[in-house]
Amino acid sequence: MNWSDDLSVGVSEIDEQHKKLVAQINTLHDAMRSGQGKDVLEKILGELAAYTQYHFTAEEEYMQKFGYPAYAPHKKEHVAFVTKIATFQEAYAAEKLGLSIEVMTFLRDWVAGHIRGSDTHYTACFREHGLA
Ligand SMILES: [Fe+2]
Repeated sequence: MNWSDDLSVGVSEIDEQHKKLVAQINTLHDAMRSGQGKDVLEKILGELAAYTQYHFTAEEEYMQKFGYPAYAPHKKEHVAFVTKIATFQEAYAAEKLGLSIEVMTFLRDWVAGHIRGSDTHYTACFREHGLA
């Protein structure tokens, strides 16, 4: 998954966080493809989960601070994704799930779809409140 300008939300701080998120998904993919062990993959997955939570919280804090009208449905999308990653983590740890191309495709598609379909909607609001 490559970062490209069409993933920009027009707010540099958020773009930087999204770039890190994409980089972590790529790290997970590379580790998976090069056949890294379970402990390595679990660690990367844990880091991805933690960073995702950090990033979502940052977005949500701005939304609340700026009175963003679509905060509630946006937060719901975040919660669903965090839950999904936690489910992957648990299933992988319990050896009920392999880290497959399907998992990777899900992560990439979700992130790209969420940035384009939901995050770009807060651009005007965030910029009106002084973010750039
Ligand atoms: Fe978001």
